Amino acid sequence: MCGIIAYVGPRQAYPVLIKGLHRLEYRGYDSAGICLMNKNLNIYKCKGKVSDLEKHVKGEDIGGTLGMAHTRWATHGEPNEVNAHPHFSQDKSLAVIHNGIIENYATLRSELKNRGYKFVSDTDTEVLAHLIYDILKHEKVKLEEAVRIALNHVIGAYAIVVLSKDNPDKIVAARKGSPMVIGVGEDEYFVASDATPIIEYTNNVIFMNDEEIAVIERDRPIQIRTVRNQKKTPYVQKMEMSLTAIEKGGFDHFMLKEIYEQPRSLRDSMRGRLLVNQGVINLGGIKEYEQKLLNAKRIIITACGTSWHAGLVGEYLIEDLARIPVEVEYSSEFRYRNPILYEDDIIIAISQSGETADTLAAIELAKSKGATVLGICNVVGSSIARATHAGVYTHAGPEIGVASTKAFTAQVAILTMMALKIAGSKGTIPRSKFQRYLTELEAIPDKVEKILTLDDQIKEIAEIYKDVKNSIYLGRGYNLPVAYEGALKLKEISYIHAEGYPAAEMKHGPIALIDEQMPVVVIATKNGTYDKVISNIMEVKARHGKIIAVVTEGDEQVRALADHCIEIPETEDFLVPLIATVPLQLLSYHIAVMRHCNVDQPRNLAKSVTVE
Ligand code: F6R
Repeated sequence: MCGIIAYVGPRQAYPVLIKGLHRLEYRGYDSAGICLMNKNLNIYKCKGKVSDLEKHVKGEDIGGTLGMAHTRWATHGEPNEVNAHPHFSQDKSLAVIHNGIIENYATLRSELKNRGYKFVSDTDTEVLAHLIYDILKHEKVKLEEAVRIALNHVIGAYAIVVLSKDNPDKIVAARKGSPMVIGVGEDEYFVASDATPIIEYTNNVIFMNDEEIAVIERDRPIQIRTVRNQKKTPYVQKMEMSLTAIEKGGFDHFMLKEIYEQPRSLRDSMRGRLLVNQGVINLGGIKEYEQKLLNAKRIIITACGTSWHAGLVGEYLIEDLARIPVEVEYSSEFRYRNPILYEDDIIIAISQSGETADTLAAIELAKSKGATVLGICNVVGSSIARATHAGVYTHAGPEIGVASTKAFTAQVAILTMMALKIAGSKGTIPRSKFQRYLTELEAIPDKVEKILTLDDQIKEIAEIYKDVKNSIYLGRGYNLPVAYEGALKLKEISYIHAEGYPAAEMKHGPIALIDEQMPVVVIATKNGTYDKVISNIMEVKARHGKIIAVVTEGDEQVRALADHCIEIPETEDFLVPLIATVPLQLLSYHIAVMRHCNVDQPRNLAKSVTVE
């Protein structure tokens, strides 16, 4: 939800900022802007993508060794040049970029209007520019102090960077609720929404905490204070992230690269944790909370989107293997519905980005009621990783494609290990089975590799169905979340309407939609409900629907009924989601490419949803 970057140092700022914006573009891509300090604050902005901004600045003065830039996902005000960031104060002496939402902006705006300030945009951000300027003018304080006072008037979430013409070597950055990382080079500093634009220059980073304001000045040490004016010592950490991990590496799209990375990302998520020879699962990050987990009377999983689907798989896993009741909650609902929480409840918050605003709020709510909150996050050092009591990183590596793929399978792998670990310790599955399950889990990455060889066959199916308007995805048991996830993948990147449904529920409504045009994707692997799913397939065929079935290798029965079969290797029931999801990712990908959709940056979406 908006990407921000700033730079001060000996280099020309423009190339650093533009490259940084490209790396952050997954966060929002409806407009972009840049501000360069070169005696004056030179601002250039436009509707569209970062590449449009590059065209827009052709022939302009883009010199300067200090600057900031922004790529936007619109909240207040439609995406256009005027609403694009940075926003100027009235006299153009100050400029602000912002990621988040100022909730009391309307009140602040009318107060400022009454004091004679003229607003040119519809954004909440412009309020900040005028407010900070107003404080500077009347209180005669330093820029950072004016920012601090202004933020005390603000309700909402923000990551902001402020530049002032009168402070040509200074960047003031602050955050609350939206992420912000500072990169510390030898004689230069970077500020960004995440570390991806920074790691090319330095591994030394400071993750800013909520309500902190950093003063970043050329050739001077960084100073951090809180909005309540307490001094903080900056804590510099080493960031482990390679440049190749955030580049396309020969693939046409990040999404395809990330689908293909899954054998590797799954191995990484299990490395050092799944110790098959010793018959042990070792989840170091939550070791301290192991006993609590074993004794838990209830586990609540909270997440959004694809991570919520992983949570649903988690529910089946933990209830089936570890026999602990589980509820799965959309974070956005959970946080507002006054949920009943007990101190011995364990909450598991799942998030790829670790920045999803609703999930963060759900965590804070659970903590305020005394519950223990464990996280499953992909982004190291992210807000959710830091807000939870303990957690397990997924180690999927940076996920840049907006549609989540490898993060989902890594989340499910972690949940599988958690469920098995509890089950092993509680004795809810016999030792012999436990050992077999570990061996089978270890074999999953190889099975995913095998599924990836089906890419051409899946592409042929995509060619046949690329022009449909609607589709249904059906699954039962462990495969129901797979159906939901398959449908979400298709709709978000190809804009084809897709619904995931429990296969048996179809006859309670959606069956009315089925005709000869309607593709129905059925996950029909050989597990507990196999025979029932076959009946559901017959019901679709009786109404001339088209069946694309994901089946277990060697299946004859479904093959005789389905229009297309995608065969996946045999595995334990509870491990099927880890492999059955992969062909559905490929199917969505190819359909979207064939429809000329922007696969990595689908319309209206952003990778990191830092607004509620
Ligand atoms: C779908 C997708 C989104 C995210 C959701 C939660 O492909 O990526 O539905 O899963 O926005 O994001 P995280 O996991 O970062 O909390």
